Amino acid sequence: MTGASGGLGSALACHYAAPGIHITLWGRNEDRLARTASLCEAKGATTSVRAFGLTDHDRALSLLGEADAARPLDLVILNAGVSDIRPEGAVTERVEAVWEAALVNYAIPVALATEAASFMAGRRRGRIALIGSVAAHHDLPFATAYCSSKAGLARFSTCLHAAMTPSDVGVTLIEPSYIDTAMSRRLDGARPFLVTPEDAARRIARAIGRGQAVLVFPAVFLLLKFVSALMPRRIAHRLLRMARVKQNAR
Ligand SMILES: NC(=O)c1ccc[n+]([C@@H]2O[C@H](COP(=O)([O-])OP(=O)(O)OC[C@H]3O[C@@H](n4cnc5c(N)ncnc54)[C@H](OP(=O)(O)O)[C@@H]3O)[C@@H](O)[C@H]2O)c1
Repeated sequence: MTGASGGLGSALACHYAAPGIHITLWGRNEDRLARTASLCEAKGATTSVRAFGLTDHDRALSLLGEADAARPLDLVILNAGVSDIRPEGAVTERVEAVWEAALVNYAIPVALATEAASFMAGRRRGRIALIGSVAAHHDLPFATAYCSSKAGLARFSTCLHAAMTPSDVGVTLIEPSYIDTAMSRRLDGARPFLVTPEDAARRIARAIGRGQAVLVFPAVFLLLKFVSALMPRRIAHRLLRMARVKQNAR
């Protein structure tokens, strides 16, 4: 599990924690990782913790190989993500933030999912879940890197689902809207249809268990996806440009 030090990752790890289950927890913040580990252990699971930055992709791939060699992975959840929006008054987002989003939200999970899929296909068993976002459905002018990295991840996930079905490896794309974690709390404004991380974890685990290709939640965002797809782009863009979204410092 990547992003196990974050709000959703911690809730997902706790959801799966039970006697006989081993959970490998990845993240950067050592204190929050240790907290997730102790919550999982209190529920009877065993854990391995690795604190490192995913942008060290060689390390990420080699740690994935080590984890699979130690205990063949049944489920890989690629949950880590970063979000950022255009600074107030600026025309574009910051180049460093765009680069980070491309790596953490798209390139690294794509590489890790591909490696995990190759291990699992050899055993004809396993599941992979990728955490995208409903932001992938819209052309948000103030969050171009977040939307596009999650849109790329979404297409990758459904392609991988198509590729892996004959090998009995499940691939599930999760597209949530607002979850009450540090990421959404940074936004200065309303968070309609907010769900708790625990509720999100339950919905996600259910979709993974069913082998669902895509889960969008809450369902109202599925409706918004279709409305946005049907709306003439010129009108959608005009409306989206009117949105005033701000974020607080990390
Ligand atoms: N919260 C929402 O409203 C919302 C909505 C839609 C989708 N999502 C998606 O849900 C996922 C989980 O986000 P969250 O809400 O739980 O946010 P969060 O609490 O901010 O957690 C983000 C996680 O990603 C990890 N991460 C970020 N950059 C990393 C890097 N370079 N290397 C390694 N780990 C890194 C963080 O690690 P450290 O904290 O240890 O640095 C943290 O564990 C993300 O993919 C996000 O895009 C969230």
